[in-house]
Amino acid sequence: MSRTVTSLTNPTVKAVRALHQRKTRDETGLFVAEGLKNVTEGVETGAVPQILLYGREAADHPLLKAAAQAAEAAGGEVIEVTQDILAKVSRRDNPQAVVGVFQQVFTPLSALEPRSAGCWVALHRVRDPGNLGTIIRTADAAGCGGVLLVGECCDPYSVEAVRATMGSIFAVPLVKASEAEFAAWRGAWPGSVVGTLLTAQTDHRSAAYVAPTLVLMGNEQQGLPPAMAALCDVNVKIPMRGRADSLNLSVATGIMIYAAS
Ligand SMILES: C[S@@+](CC[C@H](N)C(=O)[O-])C[C@H]1O[C@@H](n2cnc3c(N)ncnc32)[C@H](O)[C@@H]1O
Repeated sequence: MSRTVTSLTNPTVKAVRALHQRKTRDETGLFVAEGLKNVTEGVETGAVPQILLYGREAADHPLLKAAAQAAEAAGGEVIEVTQDILAKVSRRDNPQAVVGVFQQVFTPLSALEPRSAGCWVALHRVRDPGNLGTIIRTADAAGCGGVLLVGECCDPYSVEAVRATMGSIFAVPLVKASEAEFAAWRGAWPGSVVGTLLTAQTDHRSAAYVAPTLVLMGNEQQGLPPAMAALCDVNVKIPMRGRADSLNLSVATGIMIYAAS
């Protein structure tokens, strides 16, 4: 049975608020998904909310009831909270009426099956959570096998990144690898590894992509360093026709995913 909490000092409410900090997410292995759509995406893909907070206006929604049932069946907490608590938990004046806390999932590099999808994405030192979330969403939409986070990256389970995934956080396998681990693993890749460089001579439309294609994208500021570009079978450039010297990382990744798929 769900209970009602009105105090910001309630321990569960404090624990959910603390998940805005990466340190707490790393320590607990938990993350926050906001909104009934995102929470339902999680439940429909087999994830179970460990904590479910909801506002009065969502109480009778059948999708909330389904999520609450899944949470309670697994021993999770289901709590009706005030608008003020939802606003504080979300750090927004107009918060979503439902907030779920889920377990983070990372797939080990060794568990990947490259031939299970036509295209995969590797991001080197991605910094911006909005870019990362948008890329996860795009990878999901295009049917990519997974997103590899190479080197020190921002957290895909930050509130900002999860928001930008629009629910795809639950659908796309995520992998963390150091540069050395990636370099060793890449040696056995059965298709093309395609790097993206502003200085490349090959147009992304004329490269020969042998499936499964692994697209490697660079960091927002520095781009792809020479050592990473050297791991690729080919490095390509998306033509820049105006005055802009580069594309936003998530836009360039979207173009590359569809070109290589
Ligand atoms: C904002 S760009 C990085 C710009 C950086 N100053 C540089 O010199 O590469 C971020 C990443 O998006 C991709 N990218 C952006 N525009 C691109 C283009 N025109 N062709 C190929 N890749 C591009 C590359 O992976 C790049 O590392």
